[in-house]
Amino acid sequence: MQRLITNTGPIAHMCGDGPISGHVEQVDGLVSESGMAILVEDHVIKKIGENNEMVSEFSNAELIDIGGRAIIPGLVDSHTHLIWAGDRSREISWKQQGLTYKKISEMGGGIAATVLPTRKSTDQELAGIGIKRMKEALRNGTTHMEAKSGYGLNLETELRLLRIAESISAIDNLPTLDLTWLGAHAAPPGGDINTYFEEVLSSQLPEIIEQGIARSADVFCEPGWFSVEQTEEILKASKSGGLDLRLHIDEFEDGGGGQLAAEYSVDTADHAHHTNDEAREAMNAAGVNCGFLPGTPYSMGEDYPPFEKCLDNDWVWSIATDFNPNCRTMSLPFIGSILVQRNEISPIATLAACTRNSAQTTPHPSGLKHGQIVEGGIANLNILDSPYWESWCLQPGHSPFFATVLEGQLIYH
Ligand code: NIG
Ligand code: FE
Repeated sequence: MQRLITNTGPIAHMCGDGPISGHVEQVDGLVSESGMAILVEDHVIKKIGENNEMVSEFSNAELIDIGGRAIIPGLVDSHTHLIWAGDRSREISWKQQGLTYKKISEMGGGIAATVLPTRKSTDQELAGIGIKRMKEALRNGTTHMEAKSGYGLNLETELRLLRIAESISAIDNLPTLDLTWLGAHAAPPGGDINTYFEEVLSSQLPEIIEQGIARSADVFCEPGWFSVEQTEEILKASKSGGLDLRLHIDEFEDGGGGQLAAEYSVDTADHAHHTNDEAREAMNAAGVNCGFLPGTPYSMGEDYPPFEKCLDNDWVWSIATDFNPNCRTMSLPFIGSILVQRNEISPIATLAACTRNSAQTTPHPSGLKHGQIVEGGIANLNILDSPYWESWCLQPGHSPFFATVLEGQLIYH
């Protein structure tokens, strides 16, 4: 099946090897002129070329005239807590009274308050919740996303969450998923973190490895949750079990997770909000991506991490939604708006952060290139409802997309 997308506006194709760092400009060759056509065959981008030449060469293909609309790659959301039940809306009044995230957790709110309703939900209910969120993500241009467990906090429910994610990942016309085990997220309700840490190491993690259900492991390494020492033990065991490594570090304070991330060359160290510059430098030298999650400080009324400093230093970074009960957005264009309209970061550097850069840490299951629009890559791309590619991050609260091509299938929004 051949489809020819004709009469394009500018294409922010983002092509190239490896991640993008530093102050990129449009002139760096990341955006092509208008008047192109893209040939899609089955789920692959076959050819990109000048519109009229392509129309005469592929006259038998199904023609889709997009009327000069701009195109960007399918967005890659490299950090989500996709599946959980319950609702923590009541926590907003506590936050507005000045209670910290840690204090709210000590009062029985936070992660533990999501675990109980999650454990009580059936597989079918949790699958339905996940599917609804994946549809919302797709409407906002996400074609592939990482999805963590972490709201079961016992072997049975952690496995259940991963199995459910695996099953809904196979549904057509929804984003694909990259599964991460986050059993080391917090102490279970009524439990203590040190006892739970022992349980994670002795029984939960070995079984996760045995079942081969997750590609990566993640730990919430933060003072008050898992210590640097505990995190290191979990990283070692995960690595020897063949799992790739990711971390949550320094969300509320600099707890030393950055140095650990560098030592273990984890794929991505996320939040990294309060990480010191020396650790950032060490992370970058070790090939660790810094995964900023600005939706979380947005939700909590806090300031933002130092994007500009990363550009100045040529440090590699990405952005993701961190969709979770405390930060309920599935929209990367909204996260993009936080950088562009609130932090003076350029639309092209921001786009790189949730396409080509996030694709480095979150590969597509087909093994094909994604996060860029390239011949031979997976046919995942977004058609904007605008002739300007910059419009992708300038409509917070609304999807900026006219349609998404997902593995070659055209989905109108
Ligand atoms: O990445 N901080 C750790 N985990 C999530 C939040 C979890 C929650 O509050 O339910 C995060 O922000
Ligand atoms: Fe997170």
